[in-house]
Amino acid sequence: MRHLRTLLLFGFALATVGAILTSLTGDALAQDANAGRELFQSKGCSACHTKGFGALIGPDLQGVKDRVPDRDWAARFIRDPKAVNDEYATRMKALLPAEMVPNPGISDADLQKILDFLWSPETFGEKKTVIPKDEATIELGRKYFTGEMRFKNGGPACVSCHNIEGVGGFGGGSLASGIGSGFSSLNKAHERNGGDAGLVSVLSNPQFVVMKNAFAQNPLAQEEVVAVTAYLGDVSANTKEEPGSVGMILLLALLSLAGTGLLIFGFDRIWNKRLRNVRKTLVGEQA
Ligand code: HEC
Ligand code: HEC
Repeated sequence: MRHLRTLLLFGFALATVGAILTSLTGDALAQDANAGRELFQSKGCSACHTKGFGALIGPDLQGVKDRVPDRDWAARFIRDPKAVNDEYATRMKALLPAEMVPNPGISDADLQKILDFLWSPETFGEKKTVIPKDEATIELGRKYFTGEMRFKNGGPACVSCHNIEGVGGFGGGSLASGIGSGFSSLNKAHERNGGDAGLVSVLSNPQFVVMKNAFAQNPLAQEEVVAVTAYLGDVSANTKEEPGSVGMILLLALLSLAGTGLLIFGFDRIWNKRLRNVRKTLVGEQA
């Protein structure tokens, strides 16, 4: 009888301690998932991924814990996606045209918090924006692209940095071609950036430094993003290949060669003159 009471008391105490511990670790886990959610946004993951709202440039990460080999695999992949090339990685990489960017700068602690968030059932993202495909919207998007129609917050027209075949021509901006991956032509941008949803995300929150800076103070309005996306979708559907990129690269190479030639020639002239002048003065002084 006595034994039984002790045993019961002991069991009760154990259960209480257990419950407290569970709730503590539960809270801690929830907190880490929350911190991970913020990191997911601040480290730029949300520019390419949603959790539960469909693919953007990268796959929807809801349920990723059930797809990937294990949590350690996910950690390694997020750090350096190029270095992970097992069977699963190869198959997964082949599904989308874009590539995941490496994240060497994330601390181990932060990475674990992000993984807690990915492993949790929480979602992240927005309902997909519906892009109308009617002619009026597409035409409006074209006008925004070329600058015929100004963006209401004063952002620069796309054509000042990008081309579309048949728009703006050679004069229509080639800045972007020299800076990033060389996509100065946006004919296939809709396809390349994951369709409507991906492009909406790219335009609402540009991640490419030059473009980010250009729109930081004067972001595109939602209806402008929608119209430009509709236009780029239409262009992409109506172009078979990236136009003349090889020809363009050759032309640019020739131009820069010619430019360098001119520069060398010019410097040579100036330099020679200087030399001659110096020599003259020196000779003059001696005499
Ligand atoms: C520039 C876009 C981009 C950014 C930014 C990005 N990813 Fe990705 N991510 C991708 C793409 C694209 C893939 C598909 C794999 C590939 O092609 O490289 C991918 C794949 C993944 C996968 C594997 C998905 C699966 O289904 O197996 C995980 C996990 C992941 N990303 C997590 C992250 C995290 C966490 C961050 C932020 C630290 C992040 N990504 C930032 C584009 C991105
Ligand atoms: C101040 C210059 C600048 C302006 C203005 C600008 N961009 Fe960009 N954009 C860039 C740079 C630089 C990159 C990254 C380099 C690259 O990939 O060509 C880029 C990248 C992109 C990308 C992703 C890469 C690709 O080619 O698929 C898209 C899509 C894009 N821009 C669309 C637009 C649209 C639409 C507008 C107008 C609303 C616009 N940009 C205005 C400079 C600019």
